[in-house]
Amino acid sequence: MLRRTPPLLLRSARAPRTPGAARTADRAGRQGTGDRRRALVLRAAPRHLPADPASRNTPGMDVPENIFLVGFMGSGKSTVGQHLADVLGKAFLDCDRVLEERTGVDIPYIFDIEGEEGFRRREAAVVHELTEKRGIVLATGGGAVGSPENRRALATNGFVVYLHASAELLYQRTSRDRGRPMLHAEDPRARIDELLAVRDPLYRAVADLVIETGRRGSRRVVHDVVRAIAERAA
Ligand code: S3P
Repeated sequence: MLRRTPPLLLRSARAPRTPGAARTADRAGRQGTGDRRRALVLRAAPRHLPADPASRNTPGMDVPENIFLVGFMGSGKSTVGQHLADVLGKAFLDCDRVLEERTGVDIPYIFDIEGEEGFRRREAAVVHELTEKRGIVLATGGGAVGSPENRRALATNGFVVYLHASAELLYQRTSRDRGRPMLHAEDPRARIDELLAVRDPLYRAVADLVIETGRRGSRRVVHDVVRAIAERAA
């Protein structure tokens, strides 16, 4: 848990614009949600991947330079992302953790002081900065896809993986965690339904690959992602 620091650290509320944010070119010709991308949807369990992720056993595989994970709160982006980065020998970054390191406070505190609007400004700045990097696996916050600029930055700079789980499962995974201000509602289960109705099409619109995570552990999910990438490259 990060120590809460005075709001002084939050003074630069306006998110800096990065060159990436101004860029309008969309490499794959994708624009917003209207232009839904054709994503691979993978449900089957993996069979032919090495059990030991530390082996980084992906010789000759055409791995995308950047892999960006999107999905709802509780879908496992951070855990899967770290593990996937280890398997592929890439650096792992998490938008929320970078944001917390930069501000010196945790996400709920940013929501308390600046509201969702202030948080989204900061999140957008981090998304644009991090999507400019190369050789990374990036976990995004569950609401990052709400911004067309964020979606464009993700779609333009990397291979986007949507980690999908049912609303019920997401509720079970998030219900005991108070660190997610978007779910501080009288009826968090209904809130998840509401948010998912808006976000699911956005996750799908930006995704190159949709992975059904179900109740499987992160290792199995990582194997699915690697296998899908290998099949795509074949
Ligand atoms: C949010 C998701 C959180 C975090 C913030 C807002 C959202 O990230 O960015 O609390 O709007 O869904 P995780 O998806 O990693 O929980």
